Amino acid sequence: MWEKTMPVNEVREIITKTHLYLGAGAIQKFNDIAKDLVNKGIKKVAILTGKAAYIKTGAWDVVSKALEENGIEYLLYNKITPNPNSHDCDEARDLAVEFGAEAIIGIGGGSPIDSAKSVAIMCCYKENTTADLYEYKFTPDKALPIIAINTTHGTGTEVDRFAVVSLLEKEYKPAIAYEVCYPMYAIDDPNLMVGLGKGQTCYTSVDAVNHVVEAATSLVTSPYCVMLAKETIRLVHQYLPVALEEPNNIEARYFLTYASMIGGVCFDNGMLHYTHALEHPLSAVKPDITHGLGLAVLLPAVIRHIYPACSEVLAEILRPIVQLEGKENEAEEAALKVKEWLVSVGIKETLKDLGFTEKDVPKLVELAFTTPSLDLLLSLAPVKATKEVVEAIYRESL
Ligand SMILES: [Fe+2]
Repeated sequence: MWEKTMPVNEVREIITKTHLYLGAGAIQKFNDIAKDLVNKGIKKVAILTGKAAYIKTGAWDVVSKALEENGIEYLLYNKITPNPNSHDCDEARDLAVEFGAEAIIGIGGGSPIDSAKSVAIMCCYKENTTADLYEYKFTPDKALPIIAINTTHGTGTEVDRFAVVSLLEKEYKPAIAYEVCYPMYAIDDPNLMVGLGKGQTCYTSVDAVNHVVEAATSLVTSPYCVMLAKETIRLVHQYLPVALEEPNNIEARYFLTYASMIGGVCFDNGMLHYTHALEHPLSAVKPDITHGLGLAVLLPAVIRHIYPACSEVLAEILRPIVQLEGKENEAEEAALKVKEWLVSVGIKETLKDLGFTEKDVPKLVELAFTTPSLDLLLSLAPVKATKEVVEAIYRESL
């Protein structure tokens, strides 16, 4: 297995649209990033993060020290919650503008990094609200530079142009995808991930698996997406059980982080469709639902519905989980084996366990079609996304 030959304690640079540092100890590269910010004339930054992880992971020690040593003033906004909302982004934007921030740093998982992307845009559009951005009332072509310090292995947001923020009043959880959302620098350091609990370890990796299942089967997929999807699923299948058993196993965290990152590149290219378009209404209606758990609950039914239309690709990328020939009539088996795999890593929940009933289905279907951006994702599904198909996926997931 070639992974054994990879020196996971050496930090390597990976250049996508974002300049990424990957490896155990990569957080130390923030010292170089801080110097580069000074070289670029940036003297003030705003930092968006959640309540505690930025400290617990050890990221803050390195980041705060590097900023101070390089004479960069900072504003710390540590109120970003899971499933972040537009009001918090507006508040952070107002504070960042008042402070005079010239770059935005997100420390955390998808929520702080997506908020950082949103605030980086909103600082350049002071007359607008974050809700305007997510309701597509304007198209941004500028943003402050973004630096993403990633502390979970699931979203891939540290290297992609997507961001998601909820609009609470409308129960919308839309996504945006703009060129200006690419972070300038990103850090993927497995040392920052070892504190993730079993649930988060699992849900974040399942998020990555969903990204690539969708990107490899969308109407705009490419051979590149299929290659990235194969590797993402192989690595998650290999290393997720290891990380669940041994949370401090750096090799496992490294390859889960790498899998999540290439999963981000995969859907940045191939986009998403059913599982994300149908999960966003779940966590919009109930913001306590973890994104990856919502996706896991929907995935078997999604596989059942799309398998006949893309059986060869799914058979190929799901090979570590189930041996299939790529024939249309294997849909049920594919769905069943994916469900069994999810149960094997600890996800047994159904939509009912998340608090939904038959009565909620019409509202969820409605939100899947009316939430800005989700209709676009649905239009990329390999099987035409009619209300009947969307409804069937929700019902089969109960
Ligand atoms: Fe996701």
